[in-house]
Amino acid sequence: MNTVFLEACRGQDVAYTPVWIMRQAGRYLPQYQAVRAHLDFLTLCKTPELAVKVTLQPVDILGVDAAILFSDILIPVEAMGMRLSFSEKQGPLLNEPIRNKSAVERLIVPDTEEDMPFVIETIKILRRELENKVPLIGFSGAPFTLATYMVEGGTSKNFLNTKKMMFQHNGVFSYLMEKLTDMVISYLSAQIKAGVQAVQLFDTWAGVLSPIDYKNFVLPYVKKINAELKKQEVPLIYFVNNCAGVLKEVKKSGADVVGIDWRIDLGDAIKKLGKKIVVQGNLDPCALFLSQEELEERIKDVLWKGEAAKGHIFNLGHGILPDTPVENVIALVEAVHRYGRKE
Ligand code: CP3
Repeated sequence: MNTVFLEACRGQDVAYTPVWIMRQAGRYLPQYQAVRAHLDFLTLCKTPELAVKVTLQPVDILGVDAAILFSDILIPVEAMGMRLSFSEKQGPLLNEPIRNKSAVERLIVPDTEEDMPFVIETIKILRRELENKVPLIGFSGAPFTLATYMVEGGTSKNFLNTKKMMFQHNGVFSYLMEKLTDMVISYLSAQIKAGVQAVQLFDTWAGVLSPIDYKNFVLPYVKKINAELKKQEVPLIYFVNNCAGVLKEVKKSGADVVGIDWRIDLGDAIKKLGKKIVVQGNLDPCALFLSQEELEERIKDVLWKGEAAKGHIFNLGHGILPDTPVENVIALVEAVHRYGRKE
């Protein structure tokens, strides 16, 4: 198996900088669209043979150094008892948003094996299929990001309902965050037991908070998750979108690897994080719309800056966009492998 990704996560010497891409299985791939044409997104997530198929597509087509389980951060939220749907226009929708204590009380902490057996089954098949290929990454949404979807009922602009709960009904907010923290620990532990070789926590919306609010209302829960999972000895990756303002706090999260978005210079991010943390990132997903020559220059810049860290895993600064030209993504992976060679 190609283990360069796991070695980089641990800060070990590597032959070249590994690369994978957030949302690497998705609509920009015609092969994904072909599978999706016959069924809706949630059915795809819940059908192991098909989730396996789309997980493997980017490994075979792009030559990335890791696979990531095909699923969604909101799958366990549905298992907690909320009604989930995906709208083409509005993205994820959750019925009856959580606004008070009794709504939090009704949420259950699901048992992954019982309530989401398709996740376990997908992981087990993937490990067999990936045996001579690359490691498998499992993932979960981080508590705050999941809370925003649950309290807002979907995507939001200002996150006013979430922040109102945080500021005006802090007891309810912390009760929700505690329940989500328990869920994430149990969900990721089950993924690790089933065979994932690294886990990533996606905190897509934590960057909308002021540093002090991040420190008080988000960091303690992420620290608890990382401390619990540390015992299971797989690398822990923590990605915060829009991380620049909260990086000083993110440094204390206990993650082995911190994912960086593109709005901050990777060199500056490394200076803030120090020598003990491996970084992952951070090319602007829109750079894949540049000419291949200009794209290569940007890739070299990110690679060169990544050299200053304890370790570097190349990735985009956020998920790949649906219209991205596949030939540029193939060129990206090839360029990272070529220019990221160490000897
Ligand atoms: O990275 C991968 O390839 C693994 C699969 C994966 C998906 N979602 C598949 C998906 C992962 C890791 C996620 C995480 C996720 N889901 C996040 C965190 C990462 C991020 O991008 O910030 C968030 C916020 C979600 C919630 C979500 N799911 C949204 C907002 C949307 C709609 C927007 C969109 O891109 O369509 C989804 C749907 C979704 N999740 C799709 C895929 C491939 C598109 C569904 C389709 O086929 O129509």
